[in-house]
Amino acid sequence: MDNPVIISVGGGKGGVGKSTITANIGALLVRNHYSVGFIDADLGGANLHLCLGVRRPLTGLQDYITGKYKTLQEIIIPVTLQNSWLISGASDILELANPNFAQKQKIIRNLAKMEADFILVDLGAGSDNHVADFYAAFPCGIVVTDGLPTSIENAYGFLKNGILRGLVRLFPGDGEIRNSIRRFSDPQSGKAYATIGEMLEGLARKFPRAVKEMRMWLQQRRTFLVLNMVRDPDDVKVGERFAEMVKKYLSLNIYYIGYIVFSPDVRKSIKAMRPLVEYCGESRAAECFASVTHNLIALTKGRV
Ligand SMILES: Nc1ncnc2c1ncn2[C@@H]1O[C@H](COP(=O)(O)OP(=O)(O)O)[C@@H](O)[C@H]1O
Ligand SMILES: [Mg+2]
Repeated sequence: MDNPVIISVGGGKGGVGKSTITANIGALLVRNHYSVGFIDADLGGANLHLCLGVRRPLTGLQDYITGKYKTLQEIIIPVTLQNSWLISGASDILELANPNFAQKQKIIRNLAKMEADFILVDLGAGSDNHVADFYAAFPCGIVVTDGLPTSIENAYGFLKNGILRGLVRLFPGDGEIRNSIRRFSDPQSGKAYATIGEMLEGLARKFPRAVKEMRMWLQQRRTFLVLNMVRDPDDVKVGERFAEMVKKYLSLNIYYIGYIVFSPDVRKSIKAMRPLVEYCGESRAAECFASVTHNLIALTKGRV
């Protein structure tokens, strides 16, 4: 079996539909004969299990982080969806610990060894280091926004922090390069760059090899934009503009893979604790999920 295609799902803002999109894309990947692993990395607000029909997960990522279980295999929860498994983020542990960097690396390393064609990682809200490290760890990531200015700003911040964190992590022992990257867009340092491209040009004079490495890292990444809760045709264009902005300022390969219409059916399916595409396949929103998944498969597996 090939290594799994691991795709993070983030977007900075809570409530924009990350978990809903994770569950529905996963269900459609299964329908397209792929096996799927779901992992809920939203340790503070884990609820992906509910979208997949699991009321109360008995084990979760915290049990692995605290060492209660030694392998990811042991904390897997079966879900009703065929050919798939879930690692939940929910926990009974009162003091939720964010994993430290070494623990995160262990999760990331071992996730790549799990059996699945696709693994979807629900990142949860925010763009703090915890979220940014997971985004940066996997070369593919879905970014979700509902297109409102607040959410667009959060999605941009999420991508920016994610790539800056990823670039810094390329040079573990080199304080000078790390500090230069961290000063990106910091007007106080007097060295603010408007774009990642400008920053790389600026750094290339002093650190040509490092910049080559950074460019390669950026080139290998693919970010997929999904616009959610679309209510009218004008909203669709917001996605196009956002993708342009991300390309220009962050030098990211971003693909706008589609939009999901706002639909009360989505709420109903969440109440029924089932992905919409399983619960009400004729819904317009379900058609949108199918189109987004079709594009995702084409861009990651090169066939549909
Ligand atoms: N396309 C949509 N149409 C209508 N409601 C939606 C849609 N997508 C998500 N929702 C609703 O928004 C709420 C938040 O979704 P959720 O997936 O939990 O967001 P996140 O994981 O980003 O916090 C849910 O109650 C869900 O029913
Ligand atoms: Mg969520």
